[in-house]
Amino acid sequence: MSPGRAILRPASVIDVFVRRDLPFLQKYDTRIIVNVCGHSVEEYLDVVERLADENVDMLEINISCPNVKEGGIAFGTDPRAIESITKAVKAKAKQPVIMKLSPNVTDIRKAAKAAESGGADALSLINTLTGMKIDIERGTFALANRTGGLSGPAIRPVAVRMVYEASHAVKIPVIGMGGIASAEDALEFLMAGARAVSVGTANFHDPCISVKIADGIAKFLERKGIEDVNEIVGCAGNGGLYGTV
Ligand SMILES: Cc1cc2nc3c(=O)[nH]c(=O)nc-3n(C[C@H](O)[C@H](O)[C@H](O)COP(=O)(O)O)c2cc1C
Repeated sequence: MSPGRAILRPASVIDVFVRRDLPFLQKYDTRIIVNVCGHSVEEYLDVVERLADENVDMLEINISCPNVKEGGIAFGTDPRAIESITKAVKAKAKQPVIMKLSPNVTDIRKAAKAAESGGADALSLINTLTGMKIDIERGTFALANRTGGLSGPAIRPVAVRMVYEASHAVKIPVIGMGGIASAEDALEFLMAGARAVSVGTANFHDPCISVKIADGIAKFLERKGIEDVNEIVGCAGNGGLYGTV
């Protein structure tokens, strides 16, 4: 190393996000929700602490990541791990915390309750379902990781069912997602019990899809003579739009 030459530490992903991406997002008149992932509790907390004093509206904690210290089992598959990571994040976070649940569990209600008792301000679900593809010509796994996350319309009925179960198991608000590609799809989630919806995969087909979905929901409400969207939240389990089950 020659004298006078500075040692440059490579910028971490969170450094680049804070310096480059946050100022870009803050130019727009919109709320900013940052999705946080980690492979250990410490990694989650590093990111949460780093974002504490940034102009970020909410944090969404993705607990579908493998926990390296527990042999790679995702945090989100064990209710005790969900409760403890929620508590740890809430102790450091300055923004409201949304816990994003994994659908790769037998009972989503237990996961939802664990996040609520850990202090979560809201829940979002579902993350991707674990899938696998075999390349039959090579007779081996199509994906280098062997398994991959299944998203899009195929998972929607599973997601609607889980949003219904989770939203009836807790008092905190639920954000529904999983295969939403139209206003009709989004309405199903609201009627199942979601207070808001989120769109992932459909953006790859149409980057303007969220605006179209919001417009379509407004048109539906107008056609039904409903003034406030909150009136339809959870109506499926509450007698339906016209008071019948
Ligand atoms: C390409 C891709 C990347 C994703 N990355 C993340 C991520 O970083 N964090 C996360 O919580 N979920 C992630 N997800 C899951 C989505 O946010 C969403 O929960 C899931 O795909 C179901 O919604 P959708 O069918 O509308 O995509 C990703 C999904 C896809 C397809």
